[in-house]
Amino acid sequence: MESAPAQTKTFEQKHHYLLKKLHSLSGIVPIGAFLIEHMLTNSMTVFGPERFNKTVSALHDLPWLMGLEIFGIFLPIAFHALYGIRIAMTADYNTAQYPYLDNRRYMLQRVTGYIAFVFLLIHLAKFRFAHIMGWGPEFMSHELPDKFALTQNGIMHWNVWGIVIPAPATITLYVIGLWAACYHFANGIWSFCISWGITVGTKAQRRVGIGAAAVGITLFAWGCLALYSLATTEHTSSNPPADKAATVTLK
Ligand code: HEM
Repeated sequence: MESAPAQTKTFEQKHHYLLKKLHSLSGIVPIGAFLIEHMLTNSMTVFGPERFNKTVSALHDLPWLMGLEIFGIFLPIAFHALYGIRIAMTADYNTAQYPYLDNRRYMLQRVTGYIAFVFLLIHLAKFRFAHIMGWGPEFMSHELPDKFALTQNGIMHWNVWGIVIPAPATITLYVIGLWAACYHFANGIWSFCISWGITVGTKAQRRVGIGAAAVGITLFAWGCLALYSLATTEHTSSNPPADKAATVTLK
C-alpha cells in the first residue's frame, strides 16, 4: 500500500518553538532595555533643558548609532510586533493552554500590545521621521542641538498636514501610549520568567509580579514626569531660525 505524501511544513511551523522563544526574549532585550533607557533619558527633562540636551547629545554621539538603531531597536520591534500580532490572531485563548495567565491578564497583554504598536507608529512618525512626513524638523540633525525645544515642540505643537491638534489631546495620547507600553513590558517580564522556567512556584511568581509592577510603575512615572516638565517649563529655543516652531514660550 502506498503511504500518503508527507505534508510540507511552513518555515513557521518548523521553527515555531524557536520563534516563540525569540519573540519572548526580544520583548526583554533589546526592547525592554531600550524602554528603560528611553524613559530615563526623557525624565532628564525634569532637571532642565541643559541637562536633557547634554544627555541626548551623548546618545547621538555614540559610535555606530545607525546600526544600533536598526538592529537594536527597529528590527527587534518590527519582529516582536508582527509576530506578536500573528500569535494573538492564531492563539485560541483557553486556560488549559495557558495555565499561568488568567483571562484578564492575557486580554490586557494583547490590547496593550496593539495600543503600544499604534502609538509607536505615530510617535516615530513625529519624532524620528517628521522631516520625511512633512511634520517638522529632523530630530537627529546636529544643526538643531536644542533637543529640549524640539521635544517640547514635538509634544505640545502638532500640525499634521495643516491640522492643528491641541496640546491636551497629544498629551492624552502620550499618557495612553506610555501606559500601554509600560503595562505590556511589566506583564511581559512576569510571563517571560514563567515561560523560561525562571519562576516555578506561585511564591516566586508573586515576588516577580511585585518587582515587575514596580518596574512598570517607575517607567510610567518617569514618562509622566517628562510630559509634565515639557508642558510646564518655559523655554525659548536656541536652535537656528529654521526651527521657528520650536520657539515655544509656555505660560
Ligand atoms: C514621555 C513620553 C515620550 C517622549 C517625550 C519621547 C520622546 C522621544 C524622542 C525625543 C525621540 C527621538 C530620540 C532620538 O532620535 O534621539 C524618541 C524616539 C523613539 N521613541 Fe520615544 N518618547 C516617549 C515615549 C515612548 C514610548 C512609550 C515608546 C515605546 C513604546 C517610545 C519609543 C521610541 C522609539 C522606538 C524611538 C526611536 C529611537 C531611535 O531612533 O533611536 N517612546 N522618543
